[in-house]
Amino acid sequence: MNRERLLASRVPRLHYVMLIMLLAGCGGSGGGGDGSPPTQYNWQVPPGFPTPREDPDNPLSEEKVALGRLLFYDRRMSINQKMGCADCRLPALAFTDGRTTSEGTLGDMHPRNAMSMTNVVYNASQNWANPNTLTLSQQALVPMFGEVPVELGWTDHEDEILARFAADPDYASRFATVYPDEENPVSVGNVVKALVAFEMTMISGNAPVDKATYQDQPEALSDSARRGMDLFFSERLECFHCHGGFNFSSAVDHDGLVFEQVEFHNNGLYNINGTGDYPHGNQGVHDVTHKLEDRGMFKAPTLRNIALTAPYMHDGSIETLDAVIDHYARGGRLIEEGPYAGDGAKHPLKSSLLASFQITEQEKRDLLAFFDALTDWEFICDPRFSDPFGNLPPHSDC
Ligand code: HEC
Repeated sequence: MNRERLLASRVPRLHYVMLIMLLAGCGGSGGGGDGSPPTQYNWQVPPGFPTPREDPDNPLSEEKVALGRLLFYDRRMSINQKMGCADCRLPALAFTDGRTTSEGTLGDMHPRNAMSMTNVVYNASQNWANPNTLTLSQQALVPMFGEVPVELGWTDHEDEILARFAADPDYASRFATVYPDEENPVSVGNVVKALVAFEMTMISGNAPVDKATYQDQPEALSDSARRGMDLFFSERLECFHCHGGFNFSSAVDHDGLVFEQVEFHNNGLYNINGTGDYPHGNQGVHDVTHKLEDRGMFKAPTLRNIALTAPYMHDGSIETLDAVIDHYARGGRLIEEGPYAGDGAKHPLKSSLLASFQITEQEKRDLLAFFDALTDWEFICDPRFSDPFGNLPPHSDC
């Protein structure tokens, strides 16, 4: 099944539903809460980072962020109450799930690996390969309402799931405080806004690489990591062309940026039988646009916290960072047998930036040390992002 296409066609309808619900919720009399207005959110943007772009339709408040955190972790967010958003977003794994591809609350297998959730506020587009999913609100609707596969299972069960929160006095009071003057604050639109508010605050910018680059602490990087960083930014390896900038991804957006960069690349993972095909249902941007030239086009994700987010790539098909380096050194992946056999290095759409290169064992170790230096322990262990229900433990090093 063509999941992206289905979702792409589903999202506009959901927007319509959201609009109706939002309009229905506006203009009523006060809805409860303790009566005090929400407190403006105080951004803590790391040194060297640009100001995040805020959504005028979703101003952040401390209370909204706190509500979003609860909803993000609450298993009542799924139809059978078995999964919350965070069950594919484990704090100990930098908010990924460690699986090759993820599993929905009813057991449906997702065709994609749970991608990094670090600094999503700076993403020019969300998801691996959907040029139409530009905002976090559009993205949140996918796991909530997606049907192929079912992730949280909201479709046709909105009322049932919302009623759980409306009937919970703590949630009812929080929604009323966060969305004052709304007659019916527990709505799909307001759940999405709170989730997005929380996600926007999940900013990571205190890794050793940041300390050395922006915080005047050169000693934060080992010699090996520094050599690895030089390799990463070299014209021999070319990594920085697609994973460059403050977020180690070229597809970023932030306040003041006039032309946001929505970019997708083919990095030579597949070339089934030399036809240029990727596995069915996982052909990247092609699944949305149906253009042949979009086959195998995916977003170059941020590499922040990458040492904690194995396995790698859109389908989790590379298990270790060591193997990722081998993939790039070869200039694409050779699959010798089986249904996906073919030489990705010869994919006609492979980016010209992916030339093969020689790399010594020491250089590999240096590159891996650089990847380790992209782990931001302050972010991983930050209690503001931890599970308030205590189901998902923090990383053992926290
Ligand atoms: C032409 C652009 C481009 C270049 C150059 C490039 N990458 Fe990538 N990278 C991508 C894309 C696109 C993906 C996602 C591909 C997919 O999943 O199909 C990716 C994925 C990755 C991932 C996995 C990320 C994750 O969250 O699973 C790692 C790690 C990575 N690249 C490291 C590197 C390194 C190291 C280099 C240099 C040797 C490099 N990349 C060069 C585009 C590029």
